[in-house]
Amino acid sequence: MNVADSEVVGGILCANGYALTRDIAEADVVLVNTCAIRENAEQRIYGRLGLFSTYKRRYPGMLVGVLGCMAERLRSNLLEDGLVDIVVGPDEYRKLPGLMERAFTGERGVAVRLSRVENYDDLTPARADGVCAWLSVMRGCDKFCTFCVVPFTRGRERSRSLESIVAEVRDLAVRGLREITLLGQNVNSFRDGHYDFADLMRNVAAVDRSMRIRFTTSHPQDMSERLIEAIAEEVNICKYVHLPVQSGSDRILGLMNRTYSVDHYRRLMHRIRKAIPGVAISTDIISGFPSESVSDHRMTVDLIRELRFDGAFTFKYSPREGTKAWEMEDNVPEEEKGRRVWEITELQHAIALEQNTELIGTAVRVLVEGQSKKSRYEYTGRTDTNRSVVFPHSDEQPGEFADIRIDRTNSATLFGIRVGDVIRAASQSLGGTAA
Ligand code: 5AD
Ligand code: SF4
Repeated sequence: MNVADSEVVGGILCANGYALTRDIAEADVVLVNTCAIRENAEQRIYGRLGLFSTYKRRYPGMLVGVLGCMAERLRSNLLEDGLVDIVVGPDEYRKLPGLMERAFTGERGVAVRLSRVENYDDLTPARADGVCAWLSVMRGCDKFCTFCVVPFTRGRERSRSLESIVAEVRDLAVRGLREITLLGQNVNSFRDGHYDFADLMRNVAAVDRSMRIRFTTSHPQDMSERLIEAIAEEVNICKYVHLPVQSGSDRILGLMNRTYSVDHYRRLMHRIRKAIPGVAISTDIISGFPSESVSDHRMTVDLIRELRFDGAFTFKYSPREGTKAWEMEDNVPEEEKGRRVWEITELQHAIALEQNTELIGTAVRVLVEGQSKKSRYEYTGRTDTNRSVVFPHSDEQPGEFADIRIDRTNSATLFGIRVGDVIRAASQSLGGTAA
């Protein structure tokens, strides 16, 4: 989401005569778009601000701006130690050019008002050409899970218009992008008149059938049958759902204000798996929420073993000021939180390894993204179900589809060699061996 927001900011600045650079030595302004979801996200930003201060000394006049959720949370406190010139929250990016002009004359500025309507619907984000794009369809969150700072830093839910989203997707299709991920804290709250998120997904998918469509994130309370049907029926909507469960204990889910039970989640997952053959489902889990006992933790571990997720992101609970859970005693020791995260991660790795091992000998269809991180002789792509695949590069180009026969794997990545020709034509790029 922050990548998408940074592209909106880039769009605003480019429209005001600025140009983007990735070279800090060349920059007159350094903007850092921040996350406040957990304490360690903020610690990393403080580390980064320390680094920027050495550049500030080297290049007098260089401005540093903090954007996003941490700006919203800490406001003018961020100006205190003199490292930061501009502080702008997620709903005030239109003010950036003005704030920057004033900051160049030495006047530091803060803009952190949240809005009920701002959705940047009319702006064109500054996106690099490439294979994959992020696209925000709604902002904010009204769920108020008791651990979560997002409703406070991003404000109330509001949607963009279906028409402008579809127009943007059309533009990205013409530019040759091949995969679009629709983003929102709670995409199921998308509304434009009588259109809901399932309507949006179907309209976006119809723009170009050779383009893959993904989305994130769904709240288990709101994931509709209509959305499940849309994923099942539209060939180019990826068969992949990220569905955070957070805990396997009903007592903890209650304290978290997640508004569903473990059994609701279990039944939903079964319905998704039945309606969408071959679907992959990943989840988020928080370990060490206030009062989480060893037996609550055990329930989470048992649920993971039972449901066999295709991926799980597990986090140590981090108290966030202003949330309901902040008032609860953070009484699971750090070391114990770490141990619980470790146990869940080990279990999930073992499950993923088993799932990946089953794919050995089969061919999976991937969208080729480009060079792998480790070697320029190897390329990487992802399956419809969001599994990473690495293979020796021959004549594939980023943005093409290729079938890869898997010959080995670990818990995170599949490895194999290409079989057959690369698939360039839209009509050939779907169905078939997608795993
Ligand atoms: N501590 C730990 N994890 C958190 N998340 C959100 N807030 C917190 C917190 N205070 C996790 C949730 C959410 C994911 C994006 O981040 O699991 O789904
Ligand atoms: Fe946070 Fe809950 Fe909203 Fe997700 S649904 S952003 S966890 S408050």
